Amino acid sequence: MPGAMRHHWLLLGACGWVLLILMFVSKFISFRAVDDYGERAWGQSGTVPGAKVVKPIPASSPEKPALKPSDQPSLVPTVADWQLVTDKRNELLSTVCQNSSLRNLTHVSISKFVLDRIFVCDKHKILFCQTPKVGNTQWKKVLIVLNGAFSTVEEIPENVVHDHEKNGLPRLSSLTPQEITLRLSTYFKFFIVRDPFERLISAFKDKFVKNPRFEPWYKHDIAPAIIRKYRKSHRDSNLAASGLHFEDFVRYLGDTEGRRRMDRQFGEHIIHWVTYAELCAPCKIHYNVVGHHETLEQDAPHILKAAGIDQLVSYPTIPPGITRYNRTKVEHYFSGISKRDIRRLYTRYQGDFHLFGYPSPDFLLN
Ligand SMILES: *[C@@H]1O[C@H](CO)[C@@H](O)[C@H](O)[C@H]1NC(C)=O
Ligand SMILES: *[C@@H]1O[C@H](CO)[C@@H](O)[C@H](O)[C@H]1NC(C)=O
Ligand SMILES: *[C@@H]1O[C@H](CO)[C@@H](O)[C@H](O)[C@H]1NC(C)=O
Repeated sequence: MPGAMRHHWLLLGACGWVLLILMFVSKFISFRAVDDYGERAWGQSGTVPGAKVVKPIPASSPEKPALKPSDQPSLVPTVADWQLVTDKRNELLSTVCQNSSLRNLTHVSISKFVLDRIFVCDKHKILFCQTPKVGNTQWKKVLIVLNGAFSTVEEIPENVVHDHEKNGLPRLSSLTPQEITLRLSTYFKFFIVRDPFERLISAFKDKFVKNPRFEPWYKHDIAPAIIRKYRKSHRDSNLAASGLHFEDFVRYLGDTEGRRRMDRQFGEHIIHWVTYAELCAPCKIHYNVVGHHETLEQDAPHILKAAGIDQLVSYPTIPPGITRYNRTKVEHYFSGISKRDIRRLYTRYQGDFHLFGYPSPDFLLN
């Protein structure tokens, strides 16, 4: 008996060490992703249900004035503080939803496209609207595990995360109208946003500059179509070789009427750049929480708590600094783009700026 006991304790000790080493290593791997912040950047550090090993790190103070209420340097706010921030955001949202001059941009109906964006966790009564480039893959993984198709985040193969036939995380659109209505009115609902222009830069970099091999359509179909229509001067023979410029992208995005037909051809891929309002219909669906990427270190643990799942999962470690708004980067990308094009872009995205309390980028507009 004593022999078996000792064996037991040794095993436990070894497990502890492995866990510590894993945590240590995952921290370092994460650092590499600081600038190239993409969905894949957090893949290495995961969430383990039932064992809260990976704790979100306390945030440094956010740079954005719009987020002042949560401006608690290096402290995760208390539940009451955070609830105040959330209430303020929700108040602002409903005020802006009532602003008739922004109606075109904010009032999106609950279409099939919107229902396709929303994922359902029935077990814990949660709806999550997916908005790319804010760490959404992590949230999806958390929900996949909660739904039970996999027992840990690490077990989910990358190609299954977005395969909703196989991952046990159904879209709201797959349910009947009655089932949808019931869930929309009773479940905990949330999504995450970030500064609208920084988001577009991130989408541009990820889809047209890095262009991973497994997503060839951005470079081969979408980019040439945009260039053909929006580049001031081009030689057709050179289209694919030159690649999409940020300027072409901005002109396309700002052309509200002209891009409609193209967007229909582009299909689901437009989710990377259509407005948050178009993705999640926040004036029609009353979300409990709209998290901000810039304050994700604070928001993530509180969202888990508010959704009643903080005892089951924790959000993966966020590499320090990567969620912060970077004005230098924004200025860099927009330098050399005409004020007219930038103002048009702003006109199209101002619904998002207002709804979520992001200050208008006057340093680009004037
Ligand atoms: C509605 O939005 C417009 C455009 O941003 C703004 O100028 C106006 O002040 C807003 N109105 C109200 C009542 O907030
Ligand atoms: C809203 O949309 C209508 C129809 O598309 C258009 O005529 C109107 O000018 C738009 N209003 C604003 C404020 O953009
Ligand atoms: C902001 O972006 C610039 C240009 O891309 C980069 O050189 C700089 O390191 C970034 N700053 C931070 C704090 O990440």
